[in-house]
Amino acid sequence: MKYLLPLTALIFSLNSFGKDIAKGKSLYAACIQCHGENGEGNVEQQGPRLSGQYDWYIVSQLEAFQNGTRKNEKMMPYIKNLSKKDFDDLAAYVSSL
Ligand code: HEC
Repeated sequence: MKYLLPLTALIFSLNSFGKDIAKGKSLYAACIQCHGENGEGNVEQQGPRLSGQYDWYIVSQLEAFQNGTRKNEKMMPYIKNLSKKDFDDLAAYVSSL
């Protein structure tokens, strides 16, 4: 029982600060059809290239799409239920491509 509190604190801090590239990779499976397996983009789907993009830019754009500041009907179904943590993980993975 005495380990419960430190453990909870550890898990919480990993959750809020740790960027999980492996999680980002699994989330990115839903994005491949429009942005390409390696983030190279997809001409038919008009999905722009994402590889090599700055992680902070990817997060800022995902947030803008989600809150409607930037309109993207095509992508909305894929991102509307994702959390800020998911965006961070996705961005960490995508910017590594
Ligand atoms: C159905 C196709 C589709 C899917 C699936 C999709 N996207 Fe997109 N995405 C687009 C299109 C189209 C644009 C360009 C929108 C525009 O013209 O503003 C875009 C734009 C973006 C941008 C902005 C790029 C820039 O240079 O400003 C980011 C970041 C992005 N997508 C990330 C993702 C991520 C992460 C996923 C998976 C969770 C995803 N997309 C899934 C079609 C898609």
